[in-house]
Amino acid sequence: MPKQDAQIQRKVEHLFLAEKYFTDESFAGFDNVRLLHNALPELRLKDIDLSVNFIDQKISLPVYFNAITGGSKQSTRFNTELSQLAHTLNIPVSSGSMGVYLRLPETSDSFKVLRENNPDGFVISNVSAKVNATQAQQAIDLLSADALQIHLNALQELAMPEGDQEFFWLDNIKQIVASVNVPVIVKEVGFGLSQNNLEDLYKVGVKYVDISGFGGTDFAQIESARNHELDLTYLDRFSLSTTESLLESIPYQEKMTIFSSGGIRTPMDVIKSLRMGASAVGMSGLVLHHLQKYSLSETEIFFDEFIKQLKLIMAAIGAKSVQDIKKAPIIFDESLINYAKQRNII
Ligand code: FNR
Repeated sequence: MPKQDAQIQRKVEHLFLAEKYFTDESFAGFDNVRLLHNALPELRLKDIDLSVNFIDQKISLPVYFNAITGGSKQSTRFNTELSQLAHTLNIPVSSGSMGVYLRLPETSDSFKVLRENNPDGFVISNVSAKVNATQAQQAIDLLSADALQIHLNALQELAMPEGDQEFFWLDNIKQIVASVNVPVIVKEVGFGLSQNNLEDLYKVGVKYVDISGFGGTDFAQIESARNHELDLTYLDRFSLSTTESLLESIPYQEKMTIFSSGGIRTPMDVIKSLRMGASAVGMSGLVLHHLQKYSLSETEIFFDEFIKQLKLIMAAIGAKSVQDIKKAPIIFDESLINYAKQRNII
């Protein structure tokens, strides 16, 4: 693996800076949403079923490990542990952007571990919206991936000293969706998607989106730390939080499958995302933090507890299945009601 390659170096810095700025607090707006408990749950805790269909495969939890890394020695370690954990939990795992593999095929091992450790699991390849359909298929083939993620990261690119400055992506996405041999999920990287974006994506044939809103990992902050000339942290102010972006998705929830990510910290954040229309909930910052700070077996214990608490909350709202969560009474505070009104969502 080339040691001084700038793209690989950037990926290593992302891992380090994501941990440096990680906080237990989420800014995704889940505190502005309340679920009401059910005093008469009429169920047994042990009968609660957390399984869902993720695209076309049954998984054990409505959770997946979202795109993080690849290309470096450090990535190999994290992708190894992420895929082992995904295998144990029977949940999907995504690679980080495979642009580095397409440019430097000798980095393939850092991605291939995702499939090797998880031979029967749901593995997702990840590329940028500017790769062509042949390259997208190469990224899928390397991992025998079950789906492809295409990331939209215009704000991140603009904040990067070496970032792209041209963003003509829609036609390209249309071609990729039409030609690759697996379902395509289009995702943001922590700034959220609006109804207008969802409409544009729907029109070019996209059926799966991950709104990946603001509230957790913040690439304005991370790239500002890498860019010594510009402090662009204030750019957060015009991105969409995960809860705002989930509201934006309401008119599209019948015709597209919506995944939620961005600032997921607690089992309650997962349940609220599901109640707001997500089919499954992605996490990057939280799982990466645990793998950076603790051992793999300690991280496994964390997820065992996470699962117990998901069930506990489901029991408290009277939901025996993930489908039942959609029936729980939900209350939005004034800020989100105001947001939804101004955006003509309600
Ligand atoms: C990311 N994310 C990301 N997304 C993507 O589509 N391709 C990528 O290569 C990366 N790389 C990456 C590196 C690191 C270190 C982190 C923490 C995250 C974005 C990620 O998938 C997700 O959309 C956001 O991080 C928001 O979720 P969290 O981190 O708040 O749970």
